[in-house]
Amino acid sequence: MLQIAILGFGVVGSGTAEVLYENRKQIADYCGDEVNIKYILDLRDFPDHPLGDRVVHDVNVILNDPEVVLVAEMMGGAHPAYDFTRAALEAGKHVVTSNKEVVATFGAELLEIARTHHASYLFEASVGGGIPIIRPMQTDLASNEILSVSGILNGTTNFILTKMKNEGAAFADVLREAQQKGYAEANPTADVEGIDAARKIVILAALAFGVLADPNRISTKGITGITQEHTAVADKLGCAVKLIGHTEKIDGRVLALVSPFLVPAANPISHVDDVYNGILVDANMLGRALFYGAGAGKLPTASAVVADILDVLSHRASERRLPAWRVATAEDMASSEDYVCRRCYLIEGCQRCAAKAKAALGTEDCVFLEGGTFALISRPMSEKDANAALASTGLTPRFCLPVLD
Ligand code: NDP
Ligand code: HSE
Repeated sequence: MLQIAILGFGVVGSGTAEVLYENRKQIADYCGDEVNIKYILDLRDFPDHPLGDRVVHDVNVILNDPEVVLVAEMMGGAHPAYDFTRAALEAGKHVVTSNKEVVATFGAELLEIARTHHASYLFEASVGGGIPIIRPMQTDLASNEILSVSGILNGTTNFILTKMKNEGAAFADVLREAQQKGYAEANPTADVEGIDAARKIVILAALAFGVLADPNRISTKGITGITQEHTAVADKLGCAVKLIGHTEKIDGRVLALVSPFLVPAANPISHVDDVYNGILVDANMLGRALFYGAGAGKLPTASAVVADILDVLSHRASERRLPAWRVATAEDMASSEDYVCRRCYLIEGCQRCAAKAKAALGTEDCVFLEGGTFALISRPMSEKDANAALASTGLTPRFCLPVLD
């Protein structure tokens, strides 16, 4: 019997127990032995749950039990999740997690501690919910140079944007629904302000480029400023508004950012709706590959957690190769102002104003809208250059959104 412990018995933790129980036969076959949840650490008791007798409130019970070989951390938050993870790794236990806040903030250090103690630290569920993305990037794409990664990384905001577009639904109502469905973070500000997506894009950037940026220091814009006007303009231009995390290298430096983008219909990401995530990886040998699936929710996320549990338990005789990340310095990082892409501006004005804006932004791509406004999409330019060019015309945009081609 392979003994494991669960930390945090909420949406993902209870889902993990459900997956381990529902698919116990094939899981035992895969691991060569049965997997047993010996302990569940939580703040609450679960007297009516079949595993209610496994609940403990002191993490030391788990840390001091030599039978427990693996700990699955699904409590969320930075502390005490980081502290418990560190202690488990130092005790030589493998740790798997869905907690992107901990991976994005302390991942470099925790991977190093895992290596020192011959343990594994795996985090497939930390990005893209149930979508396999971490392991494919670490293994299947190891022979490639990653050129860029862009995608919808937050299920809650994609759910909100989709309902706003298709049903004209109010932001607050859809957010409440996402919370009820178990998609949102404990504090949903992390979802709607792009903070959750920022944590995920720094994890993907570290996998791609080897340096772990501080998620609090990358350019992060959420969707709270997105209105029906943005969605209407996007519609007119044959695009969708999506919250995108993007990373690439600019002159050898790593760019990572989160922002609402206009995504043209030709890009498959524009059709990724509801709670689904879509992550486009551009690799120098493979070309572009799209990873698509449920980006949040109980069982999809638990599926990814259990994938890590199986990976560890089926390789228990051999040491796993863990990525070596370095904490990014300021010199490692590119400024979001230098990111070159097409940009969509909505501007109030007449034909003459549009002619001036088109000349400044090097484009003929312009449509007139109701209410005396026009929308135009610039040629690929950095934010710095595009804003300076537009400022030289004396025109002030109502909004500007980058375009993801
Ligand atoms: P929940 O809030 O549903 O579950 C967390 C559980 O951990 C709760 O039961 C909570 O208890 C318990 N807990 C919190 N602090 C402690 C503590 N100090 N000691 C013991 N137990 C504690 O969150 P989720 O399951 O939704 O998310 C868990 C993690 O997975 C987060 O990092 C989240 O970002 C990540 N994640 C979530 C996804 C989702 O779809 N929900 C998808 C992908 C990742 P209490 O309720 O009493 O506070
Ligand atoms: N709150 C997150 C989301 C959970 O909505 O994407 C999955 O990481």
